[in-house]
Amino acid sequence: MVLIQGLSQRLGALRWGWILQWWLVFLAAMAPFALLLNSALNNQLGADPAKTIVDELGSWAMNFLWITLAITPARRVLGWRKPLLFRRMMGLYAFFYAVLHLLAVATFILGLRADLIVREVSERPYVIAGFAAFLLLIPLAVTSTRDWQARLGRRWRTLHLLVFPAALLVLLHFVWLIRASYAEATFYTILLAFLLGIRLYISRRRRY
Ligand code: HEM
Repeated sequence: MVLIQGLSQRLGALRWGWILQWWLVFLAAMAPFALLLNSALNNQLGADPAKTIVDELGSWAMNFLWITLAITPARRVLGWRKPLLFRRMMGLYAFFYAVLHLLAVATFILGLRADLIVREVSERPYVIAGFAAFLLLIPLAVTSTRDWQARLGRRWRTLHLLVFPAALLVLLHFVWLIRASYAEATFYTILLAFLLGIRLYISRRRRY
């Protein structure tokens, strides 16, 4: 009886520990949005608020995509298992910020004018790349649940390989729209090349 009580207390503590960690990561990932909202409400978005909102949301969408891509190599190379528990959340946050980024572009830059939106998406190469990336992210977000994972079986893994072309298109979108400094783009390019390189190396080593 005492043993069972002790065990259930331990399990309860573990459960609470996990819930606490989940909320900490969830709130930390929501923080950029909350800070942006706070700056908007206090008129602290600088000279061009629309551009600040679009750029911040786009940057965070890209950051979370890169974080999602880093989780598997972190487990394989460094043995870090914990971040794996948050991979789905990170991927969904990338999608969340990407949706807000698109909504901000459509609302604050294009004034929700359908003709302008169609023109941008069909004419500007960097927008086409961003749009294509977004289209690839949709099935990944939709099928991110355990239910879909079970339903698709092995095909789920294949489908989720779409994250790689999506990341390359996001990088293209980002590099294409740079007008001044290439430092940030170089940083993101090196990081992505490193993350994809590690995966390639690991998958080749497994094959031989
Ligand atoms: C239809 C899809 C998309 C459209 C129309 C779009 C449009 C834009 C626009 C207008 C800008 C600002 C350009 C400027 O500074 O003048 C921008 C920047 C950016 N977008 Fe997108 N975007 C799309 C999809 C995406 C997606 C899916 C991501 C990432 C997952 C993304 C990440 C970024 C980043 C990182 C920036 C640069 C932010 C910075 O300069 O700090 N975009 N996008």
